[in-house]
This record gives sequence, structure tokens and C-alpha cells, in this order.
Amino acid sequence: MHKEPIILGIESSCDDTSAAILKGRKVLSNEIANQNIHSLYGGVVPEIASREHQKNIVPVVDIAIKKSGIKKSDIDAVAFTKGPGLMGSLLVGNSFAKSFAMGMQIPIISINHMKAHILAHFIDEGNKQPNFPFLCLTVSGGHTQIVQINSFNEMKIIGTTIDDAAGEAFDKSAKILKLEYPGGPLIDKYAKQGKKNAYKFGKPKVKNLDFSFSGLKTSILYKINNEVKKNPSFIEENIEDLCASIQYSIINILLEKLEKAIEQTQIKQIAIAGGVSANSYLRSRLQHLSDDKKYDIYIPKFEYCTDNAAMIAIAGYYKYIEKKFSNLDEISQASLKF
Ligand code: KG4
Ligand code: ZN
Repeated sequence: MHKEPIILGIESSCDDTSAAILKGRKVLSNEIANQNIHSLYGGVVPEIASREHQKNIVPVVDIAIKKSGIKKSDIDAVAFTKGPGLMGSLLVGNSFAKSFAMGMQIPIISINHMKAHILAHFIDEGNKQPNFPFLCLTVSGGHTQIVQINSFNEMKIIGTTIDDAAGEAFDKSAKILKLEYPGGPLIDKYAKQGKKNAYKFGKPKVKNLDFSFSGLKTSILYKINNEVKKNPSFIEENIEDLCASIQYSIINILLEKLEKAIEQTQIKQIAIAGGVSANSYLRSRLQHLSDDKKYDIYIPKFEYCTDNAAMIAIAGYYKYIEKKFSNLDEISQASLKF
């Protein structure tokens, strides 16, 4: 009988150290150690992130293996994030994966983090999965892309941001509002009680399917500075309306281009991926869009939206079955292309 491969996935591109065990397309364990320390600095400090990964990687892998119920010797391959990401962070996952694979005499598989966010849709948890071709709005702290996916191996970016990523727009706006890093989830939380039309912010004019968020950030900054001059407690008194209005602006920018991409490609299978796809307002707007316009919408489970190693392992699975292994001289690449 054909044996389903058991893959250890390692993710360490930014500030989350994660390890997962997959058997075929099923997740046996998916452990994540967050680095809350960065909230003290208002953003990820690369040097600290790298050191924290070094501390966390061994225990996180150990727990992932224990929770999965398999033995270390059952693992058939190690998949790890090659890039894009912070170099010092990537190197920890890369070195660990190689050492583990050498020790166990199993192959390594290098994975593109952004492709892994998309392939997270194929983790088997009884959910419906997109059919090819489909479009994926990949929105994270570092990237904002509309990707056309024709097969597991053939993906092309048809729209991208010309400045900040959508997650950055959330986090930078949150910083202006004096919220802790990462601010995206906090804006989402406060927005639930706020009025989305309370404040209007500038709308970018960008050609084609590309995005821009830097103007929005400036418009938010000016508005807040003006109001705070008149009333020093302006932010605290209006935090919910501010969050709802900022979130509304960011999600509108995303959805406008996504709808344009659907119109241009005539592809009606739509997926979202990346940390910002955890946003509850984006999820509900997409759900309405699908009800109204008969699109098929695919939204990953919450834990597979933000950075996690299960997505690295599923991407590894698809390379494993095609025997696309890497050599031990595989290098990390901070700006790995798609
Ligand atoms: O994919 P991810 O975990 O890491 C990167 O590869 O960047 O994405 C992190 C980003 C952060 O900017 C964070 O603020 C944002 O995702 N994020 C959210 C939410 N949850 C995470 N943004 C808005 N609403 C959320 N609920
Ligand atoms: Zn990510």
C-alpha cells in the first residue's frame, strides 16, 4: 500500500518559531512560539528575533513531534522556509532543518513562504478546496499580492503593492493610535464596536491590479495630529470609530482590486491567505461577496492564516511527491522571488 509521507515543517521567517508534523495532507501537530518581546519595541527587531528562534527551535520541534504521536525516525523529510523573510531568522530554521536531516539521513525541501501561505488551503481538514485556476489575495505583514494559481507549481503574481503591505498598513496605523505591535488584530478587535464611516481617509490611485497604502498612512497621521492638537484625548475617546474607519479603508482598497482581477481573469474561485486574512471584517465582506456574486470563496482556518509551519509542511508535501528535494548547500534568501 502507498505510504503517506510524514513531513516535519519548520517556519522561522519573521518572529514566530513554528514546527509541524503532517502525514500526507493531514496535520498531526502544529506548534508555534510567539515572540511577544517585540511589542516592547513597536515592531520586530531582527537581531532579537534571530536569538529567540535559536532559543525556541529545539523545544518547539520537540513538542511538535511529541504531540503528533509519531517517532522521530518516522519522519520522511524536513521542509523549511528558504525566504522571503529576515535573514537572521531564516538562517536558524535553515540550519536546524539541515542538521536534523543530516542526523536522520532524510532529504530537505526548501519552501517559498508566500507560496506556502497559498498552499495552506490544501491542508486536509475536511474543508472544501479551491479548483484550478483560482485567484488568491495574499495579504501579510510583508506582502500584498493577487496571485493566479494554475496548478500546485504554476503561480503568477498579477498585482502587488508598490509600497507598504496591507499588514504594514494595519500595524503602522495602529502605531499612530498608540496600540501595541502587531496592531492588526487590535484594530480588528476595536473596530467591531466602531462606526466604519466615522472618518474618511485618502484613497490611492494606482494603475492595474497594484496596491498602495503609504498615502493612507499619511492621511491617517495628518487627521490624528490635527485632532489631537484640539483634544489631547482624541485617540482614546474615539478608538473604536478610528479603528473601524481605518479597517474599512484598508479592506476597501484590497477588495476593489480583487474585484477588478476577477473581472479581468473571469476566474470566480477566490482564496485569501496570509496574516491579514485573519481579519474578521475582510472575511465577512468576502462571504457577502460570494453570496451576492456567486463566487466560490476559500478562507483558511484561523491558525493557518498567520505564520505557521503546517503551511510549510503542506508545501513540502507537494514537492516531496514530485521528489523535488534540495541540496545541503541550499541558502536562505531574504528577498526570495516567487
Ligand atoms: O503572514 P503573517 O503572520 O506574517 C508575515 O509573513 O508577515 O502576517 C502578519 C500580519 C501583521 O501585519 C498583522 O498585524 C496582520 O498580519 N494581522 C491582522 C490580523 N491578524 C494578523 N491584520 C488585520 N486583522 C487581523 N485580525
Ligand atoms: Zn507570512
